[in-house]
Amino acid sequence: MNSKKTKTPLLKEKYKILFVSSELHPFAKTGGLGDVSNSLPKALKALHQDIIVLIPAYPFAIKKAESIKCIAKIDLPIKGFPGHLGLPVIEGKTNSVSIMETKLPGSHVKVWMIESELYNRSGTPYFDADGMEWEDNDFRFALLNYVAVEIAMGRTSLKWQPDIVHGNDWQAGLVGVLLEHEHSTKKNMRPATVFTIHNMAHMGVFSRERFDALELNPHLWNHHELEFHDDFSFIKGGLVFSDRVNTVSPSYAKEIQSEEFGYGLSGLLSYRSERLSGILNGIDMKEWNPAKDTMIKKNYSIKTLANKASNKSALQKHFNLPKRKNTLLLGMVARLVYQKGVDLLLESMDDILDLPFQIVILGSGDLELESRLRQWVNRYPEKIQIQLGYDESLSHLIEAGADAFLMPSRFEPCGLNQLYSLRYGTIPIVRKTGGLADTVTHASEENLADNTATGVVFHEAEGSTLIDAINLTSLLYQNKDVWKKLMINGMKQEFSWKESAKQYLKLYGQAIKDRNKFKKHTSVTL
Ligand code: ADP
Ligand code: GLC
Repeated sequence: MNSKKTKTPLLKEKYKILFVSSELHPFAKTGGLGDVSNSLPKALKALHQDIIVLIPAYPFAIKKAESIKCIAKIDLPIKGFPGHLGLPVIEGKTNSVSIMETKLPGSHVKVWMIESELYNRSGTPYFDADGMEWEDNDFRFALLNYVAVEIAMGRTSLKWQPDIVHGNDWQAGLVGVLLEHEHSTKKNMRPATVFTIHNMAHMGVFSRERFDALELNPHLWNHHELEFHDDFSFIKGGLVFSDRVNTVSPSYAKEIQSEEFGYGLSGLLSYRSERLSGILNGIDMKEWNPAKDTMIKKNYSIKTLANKASNKSALQKHFNLPKRKNTLLLGMVARLVYQKGVDLLLESMDDILDLPFQIVILGSGDLELESRLRQWVNRYPEKIQIQLGYDESLSHLIEAGADAFLMPSRFEPCGLNQLYSLRYGTIPIVRKTGGLADTVTHASEENLADNTATGVVFHEAEGSTLIDAINLTSLLYQNKDVWKKLMINGMKQEFSWKESAKQYLKLYGQAIKDRNKFKKHTSVTL
């Protein structure tokens, strides 16, 4: 479709958007949230929106930022979090942070980073060097929310006040809570709030003691608002108070309203279902483009598919696997956690490694899962290899070099790697859940016949069904024509952000209308 034609009606709405996130690729990324925080704002900018991304100024983020400068100091209306946890307590005075400004590389999207002692440490955004969660993550991310609210209410010297505050995941769950309790006059209405759930499994749950220390309004301590089974939850705040809530695929938006995926909040999510929607993530088509990717061995496209083979041999070389052109090479890049179905893979490993496949895995996470994977590597080093840790360029080479990509997730709000796989002609093997169900079409005879098949989809979260799926993949691989067809079908899919970004614009418009209608939450039985 001609993009000029579709742009016109949208240009009527130009919003000022503050996008609040704990991750932002390439400054700070542990998973898909980092990717989305980068590519969605860029897509919104391309739709002429005035968008600024707000993240903590982690030292590793500052290091990667070019032409970064301090543009403001913000005083916060809090006494200060306990001194021993970072911020100095100066009785009777407010605390303050600095705002550092930079740009998202290769774009005109402004990034504001909050400089504070609470962020000034190495490790990851959430964990220390030993993989333990920072003990004060509630303070660290509450600070992100408090700063967002000062900007949102125009109480800074920044001379910029958003129409929309778009919070992401539990780390930004308090923005809606704090803004709802701001006194809004017609002259200074609070911005509308949108809250995106990237993962219901992480809820930001902390104790009553910490609730008090965070200087939250004591009236919020009740079952209808922040209290959650004698503790309180940041994500619940986002769900109860935001004008609009969305998640990252239509299927996951439905799933989280069920007990199995709602983590104790399915009642609240069903209650708010009229304000809850699913918008599929897109991908950065420039960064993930096999025809131009500088991190892979040889570029290729649908017209030069044969070049993909050079990436396969480079990948086998990287992992010290025997160079076998015709052996099915399965790749996996993931946080090694229960969500990703690593245990299903481990359960079926004996059977899988009996077959003539090779497997390469890049990831890190649960120490027990890591060590169980390592045991398999020790037993079958010529068949399975893993690299523990985070490696952006290897993740690109795996997408380009593997024949098929494993994503046996137990649940998957959207998933980006299956989208990268489709674009790289690497057949995704996925479980039918969340965004995986919404983006991969099973290679049934019928779907192959009408050229809609793009991958292998299995249903039950069991080792045996995963083995069946891998066996089917192997059968398909043996028929070179069918395999090529599958690759091309996938590579032709359209997963750019353009359409999804337009849906976000619509959501922002709805949030503004809802904000104007005022209070959305009354009593709710959970
Ligand atoms: P999730 O956000 O649940 O981890 P997604 O599929 O949405 O899953 O996104 C994961 C993102 O993180 C992808 O860009 C993937 O390539 C990347 N990733 C995950 N683990 C690693 C790793 N060990 N090294 C490099 N990239 C990784
Ligand atoms: C989460 C989800 C993943 C999703 C990503 C970006 O981490 O686990 O499925 O793709 O966020 O939205």
